[in-house]
Amino acid sequence: MAERLVGIDDAAVYVPRLYIDMDEFAARRGLNPEHLKKGIGMQQMAVPDAHEDAATMAANATLELLKKNDVRPSQVGRIYVGTETMDDKSKPIASKVVGMLEEVFGKSSFTHVDGVDHVFACIGATYALENTLDWIRSGRNRGKYGVVIATDIAKYDLKSEGEYTQGAGAVAMLLSENPRLLAVEDAVGTCIKHERDFYKPLDRETPVVDGKYSIAVYLDAMKTAYLSYVKQFIEQHGLKLGSNEAPSDYAHYLAFHLPFPEMATQAAAYYFIHEWRDLERWKDIEREIGPLPPRKDYSVEELLTDEYRQFRKKFSSSSAFKKVYAEKVYPSTIAGRRIGNSYTASLYVSFLSILDSEYRKKDLFGRRVGFASYGSGASAKLFAGVFQEGYKEVAERVNLFKKLDERVRIGFDDYERLHESKPGESKSILQPKSEFAIVDVGSTEVDHGFRYYKYFE
Ligand SMILES: CC(C)(COP(=O)(O)OP(=O)(O)OC[C@H]1O[C@@H](n2cnc3c(N)ncnc32)[C@H](O)[C@@H]1OP(=O)(O)O)[C@@H](O)C(=O)NCCC(=O)NCCS
Repeated sequence: MAERLVGIDDAAVYVPRLYIDMDEFAARRGLNPEHLKKGIGMQQMAVPDAHEDAATMAANATLELLKKNDVRPSQVGRIYVGTETMDDKSKPIASKVVGMLEEVFGKSSFTHVDGVDHVFACIGATYALENTLDWIRSGRNRGKYGVVIATDIAKYDLKSEGEYTQGAGAVAMLLSENPRLLAVEDAVGTCIKHERDFYKPLDRETPVVDGKYSIAVYLDAMKTAYLSYVKQFIEQHGLKLGSNEAPSDYAHYLAFHLPFPEMATQAAAYYFIHEWRDLERWKDIEREIGPLPPRKDYSVEELLTDEYRQFRKKFSSSSAFKKVYAEKVYPSTIAGRRIGNSYTASLYVSFLSILDSEYRKKDLFGRRVGFASYGSGASAKLFAGVFQEGYKEVAERVNLFKKLDERVRIGFDDYERLHESKPGESKSILQPKSEFAIVDVGSTEVDHGFRYYKYFE
């Protein structure tokens, strides 16, 4: 039996309509703006309004996705959500999304759909994607679409190191056979470990985070996933790599999970050092930046040492790295620089950033995108997809940068007020328009904490 071609047929992104500028943020927090703009890579940070939560963002992205493709509820077989912004220990966001969509598509129109959340820090949506693509590959979808939604509000404590890496957003993806946008290849490299780099105990809304350690765990987990991925990729494509060839030469773009945009520089440098150090091209690099210091015990901690960081920085400034970074990596970071972290959604925002920034410049058909997904705690997954013939039709309607341009800038005091209030509990800055919003939060014995949603024309 021939392999089924499965993947992402279309996608819709939702970003809050409010943002704060990082120059103002830096001034009010007494930080050097260059630290945030150059070191972290943030220019603006998305801020959810009082009537928004991860469920409204998910429903808003999904409504746009279904409407622009004229997809009827009967054509959808499952709605799976990846998130780490739950407001409930039992009820999934998937059920809230169904409830909101039914207000527009009709009562009970989605009751036949399979829906659940996948929770594993920032990688939950990737598990949902892999799972749903397998469902389509197996034929158990019986011709129906799968919808996978990545939705999150990245929230850290005020005045913490994580505060300037916050953000929010949702990406809804329509998955099908013979997709118009991107066929996802079979190979998936995976790693799972028990780590304490970032986690959210049930008594806290914000995470306990060991920021610098989390960067090292990110790189280390990715390496394990990478080694497994490359083995599968080489086998499946029957490749014999030449003496100056690296697996990443076969990827035209690389999309990374971006807890902050400059993480892409760190992750790409780490990959390329690993891939290139035994190749002929390394001689030219050593001539430019000096020799690679010997690694001692290959531990996670070693990645935090000054010696490793200094060499990584030198390598990042080499002409070979800069060229590859500009071509393959930078396009994926453009949107993240204006949104910030969106946890599960960030990798898929990176992908749409490539699409929306590149489709007018070159023909993307046949080009391969490598995806590097990471969730603290920790798990990493690597996979790739190839742009399909219909990508242009999808790209023309994705409007990621248009949406970012149309947002409203808020000041620092409003940002702090929204940060410190629970969704639905304080005054909105913008009135909801053509979107789902929280209208009430229950306070009786039978609906305590239950969030009520409504569509605003
Ligand atoms: C990511 C995080 C650890 C960064 O913390 P930080 O205290 O700002 O870290 P640093 O002091 O190393 O600064 C970050 C970068 O800004 C650079 N920087 C600092 N001041 C600068 C300045 N004035 N001009 C230019 N760059 C500057 C630093 O050199 C560093 O870059 P480098 O790694 O290339 O050396 C922190 O924001 C965090 O905990 N975030 C949440 C968790 C997270 O995102 N984890 C990632 C994996 S999931």
